Amino acid sequence: MKRVDDFRLTFGKKKFVPIMIGGMGVDISTAELALEAARLGGIGHISDAMVTDVSDRLYQTTFVKSKLKLYKDNVKNSDKSKVQFDLGTLAEATKRHVEATMSAKRGDGLIFVNCMEKLTMNAPRETLQVRLASALDAGIDGITLSAGLHFGSFGLMAEHRRFRDAKLGIIVSSVRALQIFLRKNAKLDRLPDYVIVEGPLAGGHLGFGLDWAQYNLAVILAEVVQYLKTEQLSIPVIAAGGIFTGSDAVSFLENGAAAVQVATRFTVANECGLPAKVKQEYFRASEDDIVVNTISPTGYPMRMLKGSPAIGAGIRPNCEAYGFLLDGNGHCAYITAYNREVASHPDSKIVSVMDKTCLCTHMRNFNLWTCGHYTYRLKDTTHRLEGGSYQTLSAEHIFKDYQFSVDQKIALPALPA
Ligand SMILES: Cc1cc2nc3c(=O)[nH]c(=O)nc-3n(C[C@H](O)[C@H](O)[C@H](O)COP(=O)(O)O)c2cc1C
Repeated sequence: MKRVDDFRLTFGKKKFVPIMIGGMGVDISTAELALEAARLGGIGHISDAMVTDVSDRLYQTTFVKSKLKLYKDNVKNSDKSKVQFDLGTLAEATKRHVEATMSAKRGDGLIFVNCMEKLTMNAPRETLQVRLASALDAGIDGITLSAGLHFGSFGLMAEHRRFRDAKLGIIVSSVRALQIFLRKNAKLDRLPDYVIVEGPLAGGHLGFGLDWAQYNLAVILAEVVQYLKTEQLSIPVIAAGGIFTGSDAVSFLENGAAAVQVATRFTVANECGLPAKVKQEYFRASEDDIVVNTISPTGYPMRMLKGSPAIGAGIRPNCEAYGFLLDGNGHCAYITAYNREVASHPDSKIVSVMDKTCLCTHMRNFNLWTCGHYTYRLKDTTHRLEGGSYQTLSAEHIFKDYQFSVDQKIALPALPA
């Protein structure tokens, strides 16, 4: 019976354990988590989502405070079009986070940064270019382009000295998205180094509509693998979404995947950035507690726990401090929804907004509990302790469980002393 350790992901001449821990913003996939994946010979991700805020928390900078101070006169204004990111600040924050992570790297694995196109930041092209270039400048091993179609993202990096040596990959949820991406970038003569095929059971934003349940990762993976074979393109394909055990991973590796990207199992790792109380919410969740809804202002459906405090909250938009989701015209679907509720409840001090959420603020405060479909199985991966809480696990334990387990088994961690 095969196990994940019988396979290797090959990039050029180098071989890796074919386990990638997916990027989870905002700092849910911490540097510590990514570093463990790299130390164990796999691939870890940090995320550049809300990087100015992450930098403030980790490296005692004051980027968010300074931006808020600059735009404080606009806080009560529903027009956010003048709220801009300073590109120098953005570069500095990205570099700090990437450099600090890369300088702590040990072992033979790699560290990539997850870069979501949907963080449009009121100047989509300029800010994305700075994010990509700064991560490359700071020595990141690779960049995973996510949450968006990224048709122009390779072009934004084309003049960078590391454009051809860094590993660059893209997440797609259909063969069609990949075909268009390749066509749009054909003139750059630079293929992606890997393609992550993310199915409908993943956490975070989904590349599907609310009919997500009609899609199947194995089918999409087979279509992508077949397409690349027909086109004689040798690009490693990485399967993601709902791969919960080592045996699940093996079945994808035996069917054309070069590696798997996993995340949900690691949300309850000691190294994961979620607060301890939120990890317990993930453990306690039952299948009925997990929903896919459209409250994210990005326009993509998102999977989350029903009990997320972000759902129905009506906080004032925080764009002067954050503003990561402002489109190129200074709009965000949450601002529209919030203004509508305020206008229809003129006498209320507090409003509730059900159809959208202030994603920046709630992700930043860990109040939007996005999760994968199989979150309800996390309780089966550990011990329930006296008092009713669940024991969190080390990332090493989870990683090795994927790497070595067979027969759909999940190894429980050693009980605390
Ligand atoms: C809590 C959480 C946050 C996530 N955030 C992001 C993100 O910021 N960007 C992204 O591209 N994918 C995100 N994902 C998706 C993962 O990177 C990964 O591809 C997917 O969840 C793998 O499926 P699994 O969770 O069933 O293992 C997130 C997943 C989870 C569970």
